[in-house]
Amino acid sequence: MVKIRKMVEELNPYVPGRSIKEISDEYGLNPDKIIKLGSNENPFGPSPKAIENLSQNLKYINQYPETDLKDLTEAVASYSGVSPFQVILGGDGADEILDLLGKTLINPGDEFIVPIPSYMYYEYILTINGGVPIFARWDMPQNTVNVDSILNALSPRTRIIFLCTPNNPTGGLIDKKDIKTILESTDALVVVDEAYYEFAGVNNVELLKDYENLFILRTFSKVMGLAGMRIGYGLGNPQFIQYMHRIKPAFSLTRLSQIAALATLRDEDYIERSKRLCIESRKYLYHELVNITNLNVLKSKANYLLLDIRKTGMDSKTLTKKLMENGIIVRDCSSFRGLDDYWIRVNVSTIEDDKKFIEVLKEII
Ligand SMILES: Cc1ncc(COP(=O)(O)O)c(C=O)c1O
Repeated sequence: MVKIRKMVEELNPYVPGRSIKEISDEYGLNPDKIIKLGSNENPFGPSPKAIENLSQNLKYINQYPETDLKDLTEAVASYSGVSPFQVILGGDGADEILDLLGKTLINPGDEFIVPIPSYMYYEYILTINGGVPIFARWDMPQNTVNVDSILNALSPRTRIIFLCTPNNPTGGLIDKKDIKTILESTDALVVVDEAYYEFAGVNNVELLKDYENLFILRTFSKVMGLAGMRIGYGLGNPQFIQYMHRIKPAFSLTRLSQIAALATLRDEDYIERSKRLCIESRKYLYHELVNITNLNVLKSKANYLLLDIRKTGMDSKTLTKKLMENGIIVRDCSSFRGLDDYWIRVNVSTIEDDKKFIEVLKEII
């Protein structure tokens, strides 16, 4: 056997949400009948304009993609209210941008801070890049970050601090004043992950003009309905963005991804509708779930809800398995650092799917 890097030998693999194909194979279910509520995708499908533009452009996939990405960069800048020089696009979604941040900022042994529980990919990808995770706290009862735990975790080796708002998997927000306090306490890059900001109706772009150590991370995978096309973007200081461009793979954003992203951004009605329907459905799902006595449901500003299921007498592995046997995929959160074995995350879907989920859940618990 060849000699594997020590870090890779020791790495805990990232655990993604389960796919429809996996579950239909495992439980012998009809894939068309499976309801997927485990990956926070957009349940309303992609923009029809994206589909139309994609089909018109399929014949060009023999050509390499554009590398300067001018049109898409300008469209993202205008959607976000920044200049194109403040934008970087990623072709494996926001996850690629996270990898670029690691490659741009981390020397082996440098530290990054993650309040837990939060999005697990930070730890995974930054560790691969040689970073050392330092864990701070997300306060569950208040459903927000514990600012002191971040400030106490700072050290001369801190290079990145991750603040996810709305936070995955808890759905809570971080106050702008807390983000400012953290930005002002460090020279490290503060990454504010706004993957779900459209569902919350608040964002932190205005802070970019005052803080050059702020970086905002976003994705086309959620409200834009393009998770399968893998498009993410970051907004930051133009000079910093220039450094990231030096190491970004030239062709990572495929021709079709660019076309789908541009068509979706121009389809304002689709974006508004996705937002509105998800928020309506979130309200519905929340009210139905809080009425189930042995569940504790966290209030969420994203397109998912986190449920504490310990009073059901089942752990998350058992409950998710029972749901999957009934064709419903939710996220077993036991792999999230900072959560124990009694949490599941369920993404908001169409009201019809929400109803089926509630019906099956009530039968099981
Ligand atoms: C908080 C958060 N950030 C980033 C991402 C990555 O998104 P993408 O699909 O663009 O890689 C996700 C995906 O679920 C997420 O939940």
